Amino acid sequence: VLQLTLAVIKPDAVAHPLMLEALHQTILENNFVIVRCKDLVWRRQDSQKFYSEHSGRFFFQRLVEFMSSGPMRAYILAREDAISHWRELMGPTKVFRARYTSPSTIRARFGLTDTRNTTHGSDSVESAQREIIFFFPEFCVEEWMEKE
Ligand code: CMP
Repeated sequence: VLQLTLAVIKPDAVAHPLMLEALHQTILENNFVIVRCKDLVWRRQDSQKFYSEHSGRFFFQRLVEFMSSGPMRAYILAREDAISHWRELMGPTKVFRARYTSPSTIRARFGLTDTRNTTHGSDSVESAQREIIFFFPEFCVEEWMEKE
């Protein structure tokens, strides 16, 4: 089924032009259509709001600091089963696990730590909706999905 997902290249990866280029190529090679793409920098409040579901976790503070530490690149991507495909390409959240179980994934190849793990991807249709609106408030998912 045709889906949209929100993919983010995090500040650790955007800081390295070759990594950014490799990730962009990975998107194209995997038959995603880039529906929207933009570079942006978050304030701490944006970071706190986006990740509010993690607010009680031990890593919340460092996650918030990290995600507002520099430029990111956000994409709206479309393809068959876009959500699970992008998540498969990323690999597990924890970098050590990624390297151990799925060494060819993005996080295994480029991730630095469990926090600085290179990329984000929506985990469900509902979170894709929410996250697309969060990054691209002017984008209308329903309109884009309409046939003809
Ligand atoms: P992401 O897919 O963007 O969703 C939540 C983020 O929290 C995750 O990627 C990591 O950057 C971060 N995160 C998740 N688990 C941990 C952890 N155990 N330690 C540090 N950061 C984490």
